[in-house]
Amino acid sequence: MSKTPPPSDPRHAGAEPPAKPLLAALAGWALWPPPAWLMRQAGRYLPEYRATRAKAGAFLSLCTAPELAAEVTLQPIRRYGFDAAILFSDILIVPWALGQKLWFAEGEGPRLDPIRDAAGFAALGRADMAGSFGGVVAPILETVRRVRAGLAEAHPATTLIGFAGSPWTVACYMVEGAGSREFLAVKGLAYRDPALFAALTERLVDATIAYLSAQVDAGAEVLQLFESWAGILSEPQFRRWVIEPTRAIVAALKARHPGVPVIGFPRGAGWLIEAYARETGIDAIGLDTTVPPGWAAGRLPAHLALQGNLDPVALLTGGKALTRETQVILGAMRGRPFIFNLGHGIHKDTPPEHVAALLRLVRAT
Ligand code: CP3
Repeated sequence: MSKTPPPSDPRHAGAEPPAKPLLAALAGWALWPPPAWLMRQAGRYLPEYRATRAKAGAFLSLCTAPELAAEVTLQPIRRYGFDAAILFSDILIVPWALGQKLWFAEGEGPRLDPIRDAAGFAALGRADMAGSFGGVVAPILETVRRVRAGLAEAHPATTLIGFAGSPWTVACYMVEGAGSREFLAVKGLAYRDPALFAALTERLVDATIAYLSAQVDAGAEVLQLFESWAGILSEPQFRRWVIEPTRAIVAALKARHPGVPVIGFPRGAGWLIEAYARETGIDAIGLDTTVPPGWAAGRLPAHLALQGNLDPVALLTGGKALTRETQVILGAMRGRPFIFNLGHGIHKDTPPEHVAALLRLVRAT
């Protein structure tokens, strides 16, 4: 394995990289082969996940049963030896813990009792770790503790990633009440009543800081912010509802936990990814499948670790397409801090042996 510190970064002059490969890449070291994990690596494509999920019953019951949630978090680590384990939970735990009604309709995705006006917002609780918010997230924090202990025992080179949704993306679900194609309700609210939407965003900033900070206290070593709906805003809206709240969250987390790296994943941000990379204070950026790896490697700040960005459909397809797409990414990223991943979550019909083949390709590079 080769380990190259970025020559321009005085932090690394003469020092050894952190022992865990993911932490080394996040500290700016160009490791080759690069560390690898996959978004949604614990999930329905794995038979062992489906078995544990059946035991838990509903998806939210699985998220709030620490023993079972820790088990599914560790399943892909045991099977493949990924460099990171990502806490098994969901970005919608935050609105749920703030008191919004949440359920998962089987086969249809999340449903929430939508917040559309001041009365709906007034019913929302606060991020009180000593109160009901803390009570709802307590089992998730217990999962973090168990996973960290499980990794220390059996997978000492694997890093534990905690996560949350970013305020804009979480607000999309809170206001729409479900997934959406047009986002009329949430965008309409932001246009019609920016003060109310700012108050909702601020509530989510506070809740996200409290929740992620508690994940670090429980054992998360890295944090990822999922901004799945970064790609549907105009530039001024992107600055107001994506960059500003993300910067506030990252600044607060850095003040409380200076050594804990934060990965931002602004899916679909397009050309605004550069502003996101430079202005939010994140340590690493997740690239979605549409970002050309060569462009990102040349254009985004050299000290930022890049993460991504294989098309989940190439992984689903396998064979020559998988080999070709993987080689293009590896070719572009060689020599800079990089973490191999998908450009979005793994598809549920992905054959598990395609994942094994992918890891062989990455590790043979
Ligand atoms: O990556 C991991 O392995 C960790 C677990 C994780 C889940 N959701 C589990 C999950 C993570 C990091 C998330 C993030 C998440 N959740 C996002 C951001 C990433 C993205 O996909 O854009 C979003 C938008 C959500 C909200 C959400 N949760 C949706 C839209 C759905 C339905 C889609 C689907 O695949 O069914 C979920 C459910 C969900 N979250 C599942 C899993 C494994 C499927 C539930 C099941 O097992 O039946």
